[in-house]
Amino acid sequence: MSATNAEQGPDGTGLQDGKDLLYSPGFGNEHSSEAVPGALPVGRNSPQRAPFGLYAEQLSGTAFTEPRARNRRSWLYRIRPSAAHPPFRRIPNGQVRSAPFLDVEPDPNRLRWGPLPQPQEPTDFVAGLVTVGGNGDVLRREGIGIHWYAANRPMEQRVFSSSDGEFLIVPQSGALLLRTELGLLRSEPGDVALIPRGVRFRVELPDGTASGYVCENYGQPFQLPDLGPIGANGLANARDFRAPVAAYEDREERTEVVNKFGGNLWAADYDHSPLDVVAWHGSHVPYVYDLRRFNVLGSLSYDHPDPSIFTVLTSPSDTPGLAGADFVVFAPRWLVGEDTFRPPYFHRNVMTEFMGLIEGAYDAKAEGFVPGGASLHNMMSAHGPDRATFDKASAAELVPQRVDDGLAFMFETRWPVVPTEFALTASHRQEGYDTVWEGLARNFRP
Ligand SMILES: [Fe+2]
Repeated sequence: MSATNAEQGPDGTGLQDGKDLLYSPGFGNEHSSEAVPGALPVGRNSPQRAPFGLYAEQLSGTAFTEPRARNRRSWLYRIRPSAAHPPFRRIPNGQVRSAPFLDVEPDPNRLRWGPLPQPQEPTDFVAGLVTVGGNGDVLRREGIGIHWYAANRPMEQRVFSSSDGEFLIVPQSGALLLRTELGLLRSEPGDVALIPRGVRFRVELPDGTASGYVCENYGQPFQLPDLGPIGANGLANARDFRAPVAAYEDREERTEVVNKFGGNLWAADYDHSPLDVVAWHGSHVPYVYDLRRFNVLGSLSYDHPDPSIFTVLTSPSDTPGLAGADFVVFAPRWLVGEDTFRPPYFHRNVMTEFMGLIEGAYDAKAEGFVPGGASLHNMMSAHGPDRATFDKASAAELVPQRVDDGLAFMFETRWPVVPTEFALTASHRQEGYDTVWEGLARNFRP
């Protein structure tokens, strides 16, 4: 494909909000793109001299030898090779933490938070990252880190990448304009953006402020779940994912490149913008996806299916069916189950569930779980509908019901999530979450 954002200029200038960007559709494709016609070599990846004096560089997201179906790599044709940089130096981590999480003891209690307060000081996306908790081990490339972000100014002369994992960004307020090595993406509440491990990006804020959630996936790259008997279509359809088209910056100016590595933040001052990729092809690429495109499937007869039916993306582990992380969305849908308690059921789960709310309300919680808020139900922690929801759903007339007043999501993971000390002591943590299950009456009448 050779479509460009030419009408914007090759660097995407003139597009401050990113509303009219071109994209390359399809998840897991072998995408290709060039911002200057002829910049992408034909028939080979590493010609003796790349077109227009560009440098060829491979970015490998999986081991060279991983099976073709899950192999991820991209070839980048850039003005300067990434290798041309001075040493990285340690910079403060702020509130960013990584696995293993050893701040506090693992806690079986159910936790809930209101929205992260907006920063009072000038804060960009990187400075506004705050870690909730996580699991696994960042150096073993296993597990996840869960972050909130809240920013009120764009990153300027600064780019970020994580060597530790890919960033699944879930905006909750304010759009993000993501200027990545592979091109521009716009993501706004209702979308998710996926930035692969190692890909550099700068976050600008078309709306002035932005906040949301991040699942930093240390493990295998997110992929679409298998569909089994569902068939060839459904859930998140591959064609609805959008990769960028090439757009480059030709700027000989100091740029701070922040690299999250081994759980810490490091920075090097490049003398040029590293967002200088003029052409590229490959499969290790960022995406945006509109959650409203999710094809929601569910029961047409009775019972509430397990929420795995709402999986958008999954990061598999070495055990079949056991995800390092699943990203699950509770999108607008119809409930039609007969003789069925329709909200999510009471349960205890070996998997750990971190939930967030993008907008509206969630059908298992009548109050307290608010947009921008979050809950953490750790391994085997008992949870389910609150009393008000239970009472209402137990008495409801079971006519077809449209659930369209909210957009909630879940990061579900195979290991318990250990919170950070910050998350446990934060002012926006809600004390007394247990009380939502108080007053569930004893109804047993043998
Ligand atoms: Fe649950």
